[in-house]
Amino acid sequence: MSEQHINTRRVGRAFSRSAATYDQHAVLQREAADRLLAHLEFTKIKPQRVLDIGCGTGYFTRLLRQHFSRAHVTAVDIAPPMLAVARREQPRRMPWAAKNAFAAADACALPFADASFDIVASNLVMQWVGEPQQMLAEMRRVLAPGGLLLFSTFGRRTLNELRQSLADFSHEHAGLVLPFPDVTSLGDALMKLPVELPVTDSDLFTLTYADAMALIRELKGLGASSSAIRNRPSGLYGRRLLKHVSKVYAARHSAADGRISATFEVLYAQAWYAEAPRTFDQVIPIEVSGGA
Ligand SMILES: C[S@@+](CC[C@H](N)C(=O)[O-])C[C@H]1O[C@@H](n2cnc3c(N)ncnc32)[C@H](O)[C@@H]1O
Repeated sequence: MSEQHINTRRVGRAFSRSAATYDQHAVLQREAADRLLAHLEFTKIKPQRVLDIGCGTGYFTRLLRQHFSRAHVTAVDIAPPMLAVARREQPRRMPWAAKNAFAAADACALPFADASFDIVASNLVMQWVGEPQQMLAEMRRVLAPGGLLLFSTFGRRTLNELRQSLADFSHEHAGLVLPFPDVTSLGDALMKLPVELPVTDSDLFTLTYADAMALIRELKGLGASSSAIRNRPSGLYGRRLLKHVSKVYAARHSAADGRISATFEVLYAQAWYAEAPRTFDQVIPIEVSGGA
């Protein structure tokens, strides 16, 4: 969770370029957003101020708005064209509903005062952040006492097949797929924060594509560009590499119908900022009476 593999400026540029195509490819991202929201089912929180970090085209922001119709929802993203789509796509505001706000901002340097939000949420953004621990620290900093952190990110098994097929070309090229964290290291990262009741869980998805090229095209359409990876090998996705990867991928990871399969692991995490830490004199003594 601490390695610096990402060039944030390039991430912003790649997502800015994909703002117009993102929604047509983002089926898994929407499914993850629905499932992340479902994590709120058993919470009783009634937030007034909600923050969505890395809102993209705003699907998860809209879910948060529907779920907390009286809350003021703020959405930030590093890519202004993404924000423009999110702003355009927001539903008409009901007279009683609070206003939405949109701002360009980096998840690792949020432009908000401490304790500004009751829920700080983020769907599938942390994997694009160079310093996830710094993003977590910022999420916690802007969270108010009694508030909830809720986010998802991709896990270690994501794009395993593509990583293996690239590795078959060269060890160096395997690094074109980001090193995603496993659920344990995500839990460890949460434990470093002053938060309570951290909980993590995960879902495994298998998607199929006509071939490896279709998968790579989809990743590009989503803005998931390997150009944001530091020290990436030169001759990136050259014709020779693509031919090799397509062949190896099809040979090793074909489904029964001849399509190739790709694994995506989504990790979910939540944690609370306790209103006030419990002290000894708050513990109510239990009187133990003797037998009848
Ligand atoms: C995979 S998309 C997810 C978008 C949205 N949350 C969703 O569920 O569809 C990742 C988003 O995170 C944004 N992003 C990446 N790095 C960021 C950073 N450091 N700070 C803020 N946003 C960032 C990208 O611009 C992109 O819109």
